[in-house]
Amino acid sequence: MKFFVDTADIDAIRDLSELGIVDGVTTNPSLIMKSGRDIKEVTKEICDLIDGPVSAETVALDAEGMVAEGRELAKIADNIAIKVPLTWEGLKACKTLSGEGRMVNVTLCFSANQALLAAKAGATFISPFIGRLDDLNLDGMDLIAEIRQIYDNYGFETEILAASIRNVNHMKEAALIGADVATAPPGVIHAMASHVMTDKGLDAFMKDWAKTGQKIL
Ligand code: E4P
Repeated sequence: MKFFVDTADIDAIRDLSELGIVDGVTTNPSLIMKSGRDIKEVTKEICDLIDGPVSAETVALDAEGMVAEGRELAKIADNIAIKVPLTWEGLKACKTLSGEGRMVNVTLCFSANQALLAAKAGATFISPFIGRLDDLNLDGMDLIAEIRQIYDNYGFETEILAASIRNVNHMKEAALIGADVATAPPGVIHAMASHVMTDKGLDAFMKDWAKTGQKIL
């Protein structure tokens, strides 16, 4: 499973990229707002740091506007994936932009039927929002499983990009189901390395080591 980081925070992306585990980045209008940065400037900096797909989202609501904004965002770098919402207009924009050979990430997906349409319209990535479904007391992971089955049934090449990930269990479950990509906030990726038993075990080893009075270096 590929790891994308869901943030426009350059320091956080740099920090994770040093470990070599960042395969791409996703942003959205809310994350750009949070960064306090100009969308083109910050997206360019991200693209300079990361070789993989960097999603930048359009904000027009009509297909023509999305296509124009998408073409403009694509000028930032070769690794831009244009993000469009899963509306009828978004699907039209996806068809046009993917037909031009551009990467398209269709976002705000909340049903398997929406994902089926996005694949038919040539999406490179489909972004089902797990956490926001969980917020409605539904199981977001059921949607990932349904889309996996449908895409496998028909050999669609659209990659399932599990999004709106809120915790480490989401990461594990997305990997078990076979999502192609998971995009998570930096804190969730860091939390994947933590376990209380690791901390406890390390603490015990350190105490015993101190009693030996030895040094390695
Ligand atoms: C994905 O591309 C979105 O930017 C993101 O995962 C949304 O997550 P949220 O529901 O936590 O805002």
